[in-house]
Amino acid sequence: MALPTEGKVWMNGELLDWADATIHVGSHVVHYGSGVFEGARCYRTPKGSACFRLDAHIRRLYDSARIYRMSYRLSPAEFEQAVLDTIRVNALKACYIRPIMYRGYGALGVNPLPCPVDAAILVWEWGAYLGPDALEQGVDVRVSSWWRSAPNTFPALAKSSANYANSQLIRMEAAAEGYVEGIALDSGGHISEGSGENVFLVRDGTLYTPPLTASILPGITRDSVITIARSMGYTVREEMLPREMLYIADEAFFAGTAVEVTPIRSVDKITVGSGRRGPVTAALQQRYFDIINGDAPDINRWLTYVYPEEAGLRMPEAAAGSAGAGR
Ligand SMILES: Cc1ncc(COP(=O)(O)O)c(C=O)c1O
Repeated sequence: MALPTEGKVWMNGELLDWADATIHVGSHVVHYGSGVFEGARCYRTPKGSACFRLDAHIRRLYDSARIYRMSYRLSPAEFEQAVLDTIRVNALKACYIRPIMYRGYGALGVNPLPCPVDAAILVWEWGAYLGPDALEQGVDVRVSSWWRSAPNTFPALAKSSANYANSQLIRMEAAAEGYVEGIALDSGGHISEGSGENVFLVRDGTLYTPPLTASILPGITRDSVITIARSMGYTVREEMLPREMLYIADEAFFAGTAVEVTPIRSVDKITVGSGRRGPVTAALQQRYFDIINGDAPDINRWLTYVYPEEAGLRMPEAAAGSAGAGR
């Protein structure tokens, strides 16, 4: 998705013009992938713009940072507020949100500790990640020849820039062979995840998804889909899944902030179920969209309104500084 050329970028507390939001080529992150980041979204709802599960994204950002021994001078609540400020200053109604913490300019060796931990927040308008038809028609995918990293190599629970070297290999291989996306197996040969999204299967009305021990990112959409599915009465099983479950599933879909809930219509040229979006996928997709778009009651308190006055909600006493403002 193309980046804009105008707007403001938050960098270490300052709001800079888009073109000025640069770092030195000697920064540690450029050479060693020493960054942790997030991808969240803000949607238009009938009560105004709302970020979906912003607190969960910021929590995961701080978890990722902790795994990599990074500490940043803002608290998660303050960082959440900085995200909201960045959306407001750019006057965006709906957008993609990309916060990043990274090892900056200081010393250039493998040891990152002498380098400062810097942070930035980018926001920009973003459409459907896998193309406009994917949400309805589904996508054709392959099982990647690249595995996800083995346990105790790259920590899968951290959303670290370094992990995306593996994701890029998966994605490029899929693209080179005419597939929309690749699904990686873990080092034991079980289903893991797509290059940038989690995987769900449906068989006989039960949902299956790989557990956190299958080298997956703990997706916030994954967690939302599990919560929604259980609330709708579906059984959801988080368990190790053999590759061939992909071929015999009645339905399969991806879940992620970028892809939202996207049906998978074939894997390795084997049609999944009927080759169309299945009824369980359709029902979960509909409920997910109703929640993110504010058309269903926000019973889980997943929406954080960006412009509280627009939402008709009173700002809390602590005023705009409070992380949960308008939630
Ligand atoms: C590798 C990987 N798995 C899963 C996901 C889905 O996570 P989320 O639903 O939090 O966007 C992402 C997206 O961030 C990802 O990059």
